[in-house]
Amino acid sequence: MENVVVLIVGAGPAGLATAACLTQFSIPYAIVEREDCSASLWRKRAYDRLKLHLAKEFCELPHMSYPADAPTYIPKSMFIKYLDDYMGRFDIQPKYLTSVESSIYDNDKKCWSIVACDVAEGTTINFIAKFLIVASGENSAENIPDISGLHRFPGEVIHSSRYKSGKSFSGKSVLVVGSGNSGMEIAYDLATHGANTSIVIRSPIHVMTKELVRLGMTLAHHLPLNLVDNLLVMVTKFIFGDLSRHGIRMPKMGPMTLKSKTGRSSVIDVGTVGLIKRGLIQVQGSISKIMGNIVKFQSGDEITFDAIVFATGYKSTTNMWLKNGEGMLNDNGLPTKEYPNHWKGENGLYCAGLARRGLAGIAADAKNIADDIKSVIGSMCG
Ligand SMILES: Cc1cc2nc3c(=O)[nH]c(=O)nc-3n(C[C@H](O)[C@H](O)[C@H](O)COP(=O)(O)OP(=O)(O)OC[C@H]3O[C@@H](n4cnc5c(N)ncnc54)[C@H](O)[C@@H]3O)c2cc1C
Ligand SMILES: *[C@@H]1O[C@H](CO)[C@@H](O)[C@H](O)[C@H]1NC(C)=O
Repeated sequence: MENVVVLIVGAGPAGLATAACLTQFSIPYAIVEREDCSASLWRKRAYDRLKLHLAKEFCELPHMSYPADAPTYIPKSMFIKYLDDYMGRFDIQPKYLTSVESSIYDNDKKCWSIVACDVAEGTTINFIAKFLIVASGENSAENIPDISGLHRFPGEVIHSSRYKSGKSFSGKSVLVVGSGNSGMEIAYDLATHGANTSIVIRSPIHVMTKELVRLGMTLAHHLPLNLVDNLLVMVTKFIFGDLSRHGIRMPKMGPMTLKSKTGRSSVIDVGTVGLIKRGLIQVQGSISKIMGNIVKFQSGDEITFDAIVFATGYKSTTNMWLKNGEGMLNDNGLPTKEYPNHWKGENGLYCAGLARRGLAGIAADAKNIADDIKSVIGSMCG
């Protein structure tokens, strides 16, 4: 049995940022991680060509900047190096291979009772904590939609988190399902590696350049959102032209408003749109079913594929282990309260990194949580 003041679940960017902020106040904590390394999403579940989508000034964790000579868009390997340096700087030592299986609030003892599994040994570890921080990520389990006939598809089926590079798909016909940043970038990677690539784009999306996203985020500090949106939409139409004839429709809500109201991000074009226009990537609508290696679309088209990549996002698994968290998280494991009040639950429960606001959101959550714990501890001692 381990008694700790604060237990942080998850050693991704959110857990590390919170640990650093607690260290600044000399508040003792333990941090547990189910994998054998920190930031497992970045080290193990990200494709080779990934760079941070947002400019570096929006991707810093609290109390440590990127080196001045770092590029504006940080490559994956440099981001991992930054996290390693961050852990060194704040002396963060996660307990690895420790997967939290259940947490319950003990109303009599007024503390959290947590059961974790030592994955290597198969043994159980019990923690008692005054404060519990959920930093287990929005991306903890693969989400693959239920499509009739999928389990009988004879080709390769993978989720985007296990996709590394298009090298092994050269010469094959591949269908990418999902048109977020991962889907669009994976389609580009496949096509440029010589795969005959199609992508399912079901819902309307905003396609932007990374420079425009940066401009929008910067302007949003000074101007009303609808003004920024109008400007962005005008410029994207100028850059990309009318994409609706290529199967890409634009949402009614502007890109910045859509992000702030629904958390849905714009897609940052890495060259995919150019390949779509040149007919090197085919855009498809919704899938109706799969028969053998033939995918049938709602348009009536039937196309044969060798592989399917699902870039259909993730789902949260927090509700599988967190009890008494109803005040903070809904049935989907996402915050009940709206941003910016989403990070605090009852009885010393907090969440970092669940507001769909990327690394900047993580940095804000970490600071808020540490400030709050400091003031609670202060009032208990005073
Ligand atoms: C492909 C991709 C690109 C992105 N690019 C950007 C970007 O450019 N800019 C930006 O701001 N954001 C970006 N994001 C969004 C976000 O910043 C990252 O997803 C970030 O890694 C989230 O950090 P996190 O710590 O909240 O979650 P994660 O990185 O998912 O870390 C959570 C950790 O908790 C562990 N864990 C989960 N459950 C348990 C458990 N029960 N017990 C113990 N440990 C557990 C996991 O193993 C994991 O290591 C991107 C996301 C993805 C998927
Ligand atoms: C490539 O895929 C399209 C369908 O998206 C198909 O019509 C075409 O025959 C394929 N080409 C090759 C060389 O496989």
